[in-house]
Amino acid sequence: MSFILEYIKHPRKIGAVAPSNRCLSRKMMQPLDFSLADVIVEYGPGTGSFTSELIAGRKPDTELILIEQNEHFCRQLEAKYGSMKNVHIVHGNAENVGTYLKQYGFDHADYIISGLPFTTLPRGVSDSILTATNKALGENGRFITFQYSLVKRRFFQRYFSITDYLREVRNLPPAYVLVMKNRSEIYV
Ligand SMILES: C[S@@+](CC[C@H](N)C(=O)[O-])C[C@H]1O[C@@H](n2cnc3c(N)ncnc32)[C@H](O)[C@@H]1O
Repeated sequence: MSFILEYIKHPRKIGAVAPSNRCLSRKMMQPLDFSLADVIVEYGPGTGSFTSELIAGRKPDTELILIEQNEHFCRQLEAKYGSMKNVHIVHGNAENVGTYLKQYGFDHADYIISGLPFTTLPRGVSDSILTATNKALGENGRFITFQYSLVKRRFFQRYFSITDYLREVRNLPPAYVLVMKNRSEIYV
């Protein structure tokens, strides 16, 4: 219910009328090798559909940084996960991922998992988030996001190489999971 109310208030930033379901949340985890993940960042966790899977799968010492712009969702995340070890909830903007990583003492993230609605975010905001993501991922990191269609594929390819597409038809609407890494000419 809280999700739909926040959607009515901020449709372009929330971008969906309901949280992602369990099937899509699990599909988002499929590309991760949790044994190699020391630092995971999540953009736009909302009410925590992906967060719960990340917490269930991570090593106990993996640091998890959740960046959520919506104050109401941040309060819910604090109540659910705020007392957990190595979980950091940031009420902020994914554009500033580099600053938050530094604040917690890290140079880069091994994985960045995104629930952001790139199709409805203003183009300038998406550009700035993807540029910051290039820097935050470093050489070997992976950026994993879902999309309801592949219309933004070429846009993502301006920043990343797409290494895999997964499809989840049991979500409403069905979704694609895109797995990306920095293009070699971007990372120097
Ligand atoms: C489609 S919802 C996804 C929520 C959740 N990950 C899921 O799949 O159910 C998008 C989320 O991104 C958040 N968001 C939008 N723009 C953001 C930004 N620039 N930085 C951080 N969070 C943002 C919204 O507040 C919302 O919680």
